[in-house]
Amino acid sequence: MANEAQPQAEVHQHQHQHQHQHGQGAQPTPGMHPSFMRVIQQRQRVKEKLSNIRHKIGVYSAKGGVGKTTVAINLAYALKEKGFKVGLLDADIDCPNVTMFLGMDEKMEPVLPLKPIDNHGVKIASTAMLVDELKRPMIWRGPIIVKMLGDFFENTDWGDLDYLICDLSPGTSDAPLTIMQVLDLDGFIIVTTPQKVAGINSIRSGLMAKRLNVSVLGVVENMSSGKPSEKTMEVVRTLDTEFLGTIGKRDAIADITDNGKVHIFEDQDIKKEFSAIVDRITGK
Ligand SMILES: Nc1ncnc2c1ncn2[C@@H]1O[C@H](COP(=O)(O)OP(=O)(O)OP(=O)(O)O)[C@@H](O)[C@H]1O
Ligand SMILES: [Mg+2]
Repeated sequence: MANEAQPQAEVHQHQHQHQHQHGQGAQPTPGMHPSFMRVIQQRQRVKEKLSNIRHKIGVYSAKGGVGKTTVAINLAYALKEKGFKVGLLDADIDCPNVTMFLGMDEKMEPVLPLKPIDNHGVKIASTAMLVDELKRPMIWRGPIIVKMLGDFFENTDWGDLDYLICDLSPGTSDAPLTIMQVLDLDGFIIVTTPQKVAGINSIRSGLMAKRLNVSVLGVVENMSSGKPSEKTMEVVRTLDTEFLGTIGKRDAIADITDNGKVHIFEDQDIKKEFSAIVDRITGK
């Protein structure tokens, strides 16, 4: 994984290779179907818009409810605590929970470019900040999702960031696939739990990401007993990736969430766990 201590030139080289892996360098060519051309042009605009963000990391799982949003939020704040400039993108458009978890009810100013909202030092953007939650269309599928996410990414001004953490919707449907392709992520962190079924699904989601040439940066075991389960370590071996750490199963987590607080600010043990994970991510 890219390391903050890396000389700038090496980081650029890494990003350059990465773009090629994704086919992001594709250029519109004469005779190309106009809709395909529009998609390529939009990706280029998104890329330009995000060019001042050094690392973009997705938090992902095939299975719902394993703790992606919890992990994404705390990773973002743990990175910020280490002195990095951090943004948190709620890219789960079906159930955008980030703002709810953080107890935020601000809406982004409806002027372009959209400006993420600062919450205790982390810049937050969510589709939930654009529309009234209750009036939000519940079913967004296929091309609409692609268009909507593309427009949102293209029109959000994050400024200069060290890390953008993206909370994704679960599964292998349109939304996470679109995000992988449009955002040109460095890769994913897979969140799993000690259960066998979570492990099997994590392997599935990891293999899907790899098939799309998106790297699996590592695996976090959430709701853990403290020692990673055999299944979690099998996920790590099968995906040929890194084990990043465990987050213990704690009743306090749901209470802290319900109160709109950030877990690492409320509980020293949780803070230590996320701090260790962030040190592995940043290569410290
Ligand atoms: N380590 C933990 N210990 C106890 N409860 C947890 C832990 N991590 C998350 N939870 C609780 O589990 C529930 C699901 O967590 P979260 O919403 O973060 O999962 P998710 O993977 O983002 O879900 P979805 O797939 O719906 O987006 C929440 O109520 C959260 O408070
Ligand atoms: Mg979630």
